[in-house]
Amino acid sequence: MPEPLMAAPDSPLRLLPKVELHCHVEGTARAATVAELAAKHGIPLGVDDPDDLYTYESLADFLNAFGTVCSVFLEPADFHRLAYEAAEDAAAAGTRYREMFFSPGFHLDRGVPFHRMWEGLVSGIADGETDHGVRTRLILDVDKPKGIGPAMALLEVARSLDRDLLIGVGGDSTEQGLDHHMFEPLIAEAQQLGLKTCFHCGEDGPAENIAIMVEAGIDRIDHGTRLLDLPDLTKRVVDERIPLTSCPGSNVEIGVVESLEAHPFVDQRAAGALVTLNSDDPTFFRYDLADEYERMSATFDLDMAEMVAIRDNAIEASWLDETDKAALRAEFAAS
Ligand code: HPA
Ligand code: ZN
Repeated sequence: MPEPLMAAPDSPLRLLPKVELHCHVEGTARAATVAELAAKHGIPLGVDDPDDLYTYESLADFLNAFGTVCSVFLEPADFHRLAYEAAEDAAAAGTRYREMFFSPGFHLDRGVPFHRMWEGLVSGIADGETDHGVRTRLILDVDKPKGIGPAMALLEVARSLDRDLLIGVGGDSTEQGLDHHMFEPLIAEAQQLGLKTCFHCGEDGPAENIAIMVEAGIDRIDHGTRLLDLPDLTKRVVDERIPLTSCPGSNVEIGVVESLEAHPFVDQRAAGALVTLNSDDPTFFRYDLADEYERMSATFDLDMAEMVAIRDNAIEASWLDETDKAALRAEFAAS
């Protein structure tokens, strides 16, 4: 029996074809894979049961676990497996198209050269698409606490990457103690290069961080949980149709929102914002995208038409061109 509020294998919301815009490839790592790779490389995980890695009470705890999980991916074959299994699990959640973060800062810290990570991800994504029908494009996420210097250095690396695969630049980790104005040059330069931009903000920090990043010109707001705290900003985000990639389950697990019932997702939607639903780090939170849809539908009594409209928001908010969006809408309508 599935647990309460999980999407069963035959649940209409699991079978609904979906698009996901906020998911970290490292946050899809299966505990069993992490344990196997740790054994292969002789890396201590500090726990007997790898499942125990995925427990935390704060974003800081979570980021610690995230770092430990990152530490086992060293060779192209490891990154291939990560990306391939991400596609396999996405297919099981009904995800057909995904714009997915990867976080080079965590791997560079451990001496893994960028090209090793990139080579593995690219081939894993290609094989994942062939075998599981999930199309994936990548967003390079900078680790915000490292500051603007390392972020700009990563953007330099991004210049030469295949633009069919790398479509955007973002930033993750904590907002605590960081003046987000420092990232303005990153956004400007990324846009100069023709990359889309997004940023985690208004998650464990205030709505003012969303305002700074909107002013900097970001194309999408990641989380944006605190948006409604600022009515003028909310109006701008609604009027300019700047999408939010909301991850209610993640917000509850990490403790920035008390419960799903208390999450502002539905209120943001009622205010007219273009809000999308996402899993963030599905293996870390133990809910995939289908579970996320199921839980929000059950918690807020959202019927199928409403859930389809939320799914359709993700098509609109994606960085596909209009032709590809139309093709995806047609594909989804036919399935
Ligand atoms: N918040 C901040 N940083 C992250 C997250 C998140 O939810 N997931 C991966 N890196
Ligand atoms: Zn995230």
